[in-house]
Amino acid sequence: MCRFTEAVRQMRNRMLERLFVKRRLLSIAGVAILAAVIGQACNKPHQPASPMTITLIDQGWPDPESRRHRNEELRRFTNETGIRVELLPAPENAVEQLEVWSTMLDRHAPVPDVFAVDVIWPAILGDQFLDLKPYVPAQEIADHFPGTITNFTVHGRLVALPYDLDTGLLYYRTDLLRKYGYSAPPKTWEELEKAAARIQAAERAQGQTNLWGFVWQGAASEALTCNALEWQVSEGGGTIIENGAVTVNNPQTVRAWKRAARWPGSISPPGVVAYREWDALNLWKAGQAVFMRNWSNAYMVSSEKDSPVRGKFAMCPLPKGRARISGTLGGNGYAVSRYSLHPREAVQLVRFLCGHDEQFRRSQNPVEPSTIPELYTNPSVLAANPYFSDVLRVYEQGITLRPSSATGKTYPDVSRAYFEAVHAVLTRRKTAETAAAELQKALTQITSLGTTTTVADEESRVSRESAGQP
Ligand code: GLC
Repeated sequence: MCRFTEAVRQMRNRMLERLFVKRRLLSIAGVAILAAVIGQACNKPHQPASPMTITLIDQGWPDPESRRHRNEELRRFTNETGIRVELLPAPENAVEQLEVWSTMLDRHAPVPDVFAVDVIWPAILGDQFLDLKPYVPAQEIADHFPGTITNFTVHGRLVALPYDLDTGLLYYRTDLLRKYGYSAPPKTWEELEKAAARIQAAERAQGQTNLWGFVWQGAASEALTCNALEWQVSEGGGTIIENGAVTVNNPQTVRAWKRAARWPGSISPPGVVAYREWDALNLWKAGQAVFMRNWSNAYMVSSEKDSPVRGKFAMCPLPKGRARISGTLGGNGYAVSRYSLHPREAVQLVRFLCGHDEQFRRSQNPVEPSTIPELYTNPSVLAANPYFSDVLRVYEQGITLRPSSATGKTYPDVSRAYFEAVHAVLTRRKTAETAAAELQKALTQITSLGTTTTVADEESRVSRESAGQP
């Protein structure tokens, strides 16, 4: 066995040992994936030195069409450079992915060479990635939306290049809206509630008994943080942490959460409180939902040849609350591990995947939105992806950032406290008022940030004082 293989084997054993001791850290699925990842590196002891193989970890979208596109893309890279790429398996959801990524990086694992990096992770993992600035020409960096570059820059280091730009959007069935006389999709949450309830009732009366008005992501997960933030920001409730203070406990946020708590079991399936992206998408793609909140990249899957909703749907910004439209910024970049044994080749892969030429080529088919503004005015790109104009509108007018830069390494705890509080409201375990007040306290402790006094706090303080209570 070669020394490298032996070193990797020992590392795998140490990591697994540590993981089993710290069970809380990682789910069983995460451990299995990790074992597979490291195992794959070990199973190649006798490979010839050439061609060079580098490893990439990226969940991506798991449907066959998305996988086919990804494999083609990697094959093209190999044809151009002679460098082979092995795609490693990853868990499905963001919280577990972060646990697996962190564990591998904390152990200085030499694989993977390249990591997909969610837009919320740069401040958490950034120290463990190479600064790409010395490797990537300035013009190539300047091709991307400046906001995406800022997002991936931590303390002046560019820790990843942007690959795709996700945002929350409203998907709607054009055939059903037309059938019920709607000439445009709903512009406000009230309009959405009314249209969803009406179409759901009328279609069910005609035998479509499985049809639901609105599907979204209500499971206690990062996806719920994204959904709930959209509700509260559109209502004027702010982004949880603002100007260095915790601001989540305010009447606008409470109002937004209360409205959403009415949906499970009425316009949304009762099980929506356990849905992640794919659960909502499966129901939608089967033609069983009038409206869906999902990421922009659900467009690809909904447009596939076998999709029953192909040609029967469109997308637009999510409805407005009392304040404005709002779509959470999602998406990924690619980063090179500081522990990679092949940093030069790994950077080549990152530049290839994120660069203008490959983004242009990829965008000739239905695809996730590009991070290169120039492509949003390109006729052939727009012909394949007419929804890019809506993405641009949301990006320019209503993009909502999760407070990941403001909270740095504590973001995972902040987000968990937030989605658990909202989940308690959706499942009627807590009132919105209680959940928001408790969350405000919890976040103040987690972040060590100050708090703002809300109108509700002030009113209850005044009434306690006038009743002679502390
Ligand atoms: C999508 C987004 C990502 C987000 C995740 C939450 O993958 O691109 O930014 O964190 O969904 O589930």
